[in-house]
Amino acid sequence: MLKNDQLEAWDRDCFFHPSTHLAQFARGAAPQRVVTGGEGVYIRDREGNRLLDAFAGLYCVNVGYGRKEIAKAIAKQAEELAYYHAYVGHGTEASITLAKMVIDRAPKGMSKVYFGLSGSDANETNVKLVWYYNNILGRPQKKKIISRWRGYHGSGLMTGSLTGLELFHKKFDLPLAQVIHTEAPYYYRRKVDAMSEEEFSAHCASELDKLIQAEGPDTIAAFIGEPALGTGGLVPPPKGYWKAIQEVLEKYDILLIADEVVTGFGRLGTMFGSDHYGIRPDIITSAKGLTSAYAPLSASLIGEKVWKVLEQGTDENGAIGHGWTYSAHPIGAAAGIANLKLIDDLGLVGNARATGGYFNTAMRKALGDHPKVGEVRGEGMLCAVELVEDKDARRFFEPAGQHGPKVAAALLKRGVIARAMPQGDILGFAPPLCLSEAEADIVVGAMREAVEEVFPGA
Ligand SMILES: Cc1ncc(COP(=O)(O)O)c(C=O)c1O
Repeated sequence: MLKNDQLEAWDRDCFFHPSTHLAQFARGAAPQRVVTGGEGVYIRDREGNRLLDAFAGLYCVNVGYGRKEIAKAIAKQAEELAYYHAYVGHGTEASITLAKMVIDRAPKGMSKVYFGLSGSDANETNVKLVWYYNNILGRPQKKKIISRWRGYHGSGLMTGSLTGLELFHKKFDLPLAQVIHTEAPYYYRRKVDAMSEEEFSAHCASELDKLIQAEGPDTIAAFIGEPALGTGGLVPPPKGYWKAIQEVLEKYDILLIADEVVTGFGRLGTMFGSDHYGIRPDIITSAKGLTSAYAPLSASLIGEKVWKVLEQGTDENGAIGHGWTYSAHPIGAAAGIANLKLIDDLGLVGNARATGGYFNTAMRKALGDHPKVGEVRGEGMLCAVELVEDKDARRFFEPAGQHGPKVAAALLKRGVIARAMPQGDILGFAPPLCLSEAEADIVVGAMREAVEEVFPGA
């Protein structure tokens, strides 16, 4: 096929890219890449580059690229029945089967699955259900949602509000009034040096308790958190964090939404992050790994306690007024079924644990002692390297956000994609769960060289 030489120009002229510097892009002054294919952990672009994608797209292509099993399942579904809706009791074999597969893999107590299209819309659903729940229970004032600074929950009106990153609020008039934020469970950035991890967890729980008291416990409906912070910096929780937080939530009858959009379906080396950290959520948000992004699909998992009240609500009020044309889209569901089967058949959750462990250890060995690396942290197929101005004083770069992108660019020159996380100078790695040890070595070697290039003589 002849190369369309106008494609890059059409891209600048017509295409609105998310999370992009729009003016620089339109002027041709920002990076542009047209991706054409992929196999395993590698993608290819129009310029003929082959790149090791150590962030699995947006930490979503968990089974890796080019999986024929999923492509075939999608094609078969499209031929048989490309679409039917799920309203008023309708369904498809694919959507019902996938619901059963999800519940079979979910943490104990999950009862029903609502399918949407993205992590953002799943969180919108979850907040609406929490509000509905409290209205049915006769507590119309119990509506506020507590989220954490540095949490990421999407970029809609409600979900962008839940997100605790400045970039997603600035100039959008967010957060909405019903959302409040509490301390991030980010031990490395603690203010008091002498605190142990356990003390820091107790401090986070105490801050949460104070916030609830100040707002009034009767006004707080739910707490939302990612089992391990994702976009806010890839930060596993400090020891004892979730236990301490759950004790506070239980005291005030506040629901817990575990946002497992990143951690669901294997990334931490367990099927769900809730199981990994002993979290007992009332509702779980999932998306990305559910289909490995072969088709857009999200799942809100509703626990039995909330579900019972939703049923009571429809007995009292009639059908629930919530749904989208594309809820439980059969093509997404077919992709989900094939994806979950592949995760089982290839043992990818186990590989995320074993090879992810190897990857994290290798990264620590290669970079842990570097004077500009403050911390290497991670679990399973999640790893972050945080750059600092002064390691001993734990002093961060000012202004932030200059060095992370430089290291990411130096990695790219070496054929490896990592993500410069949006707040701080943090290199994020979240490769496909099928990463091999040899591929892990390539990423770590390239990272060592990239850091040395950006900080010569350090
Ligand atoms: C934890 C978490 N929740 C929600 C979302 C939003 O998902 P989406 O981008 O599919 O709307 C993301 C996206 O990265 C996420 O990481």
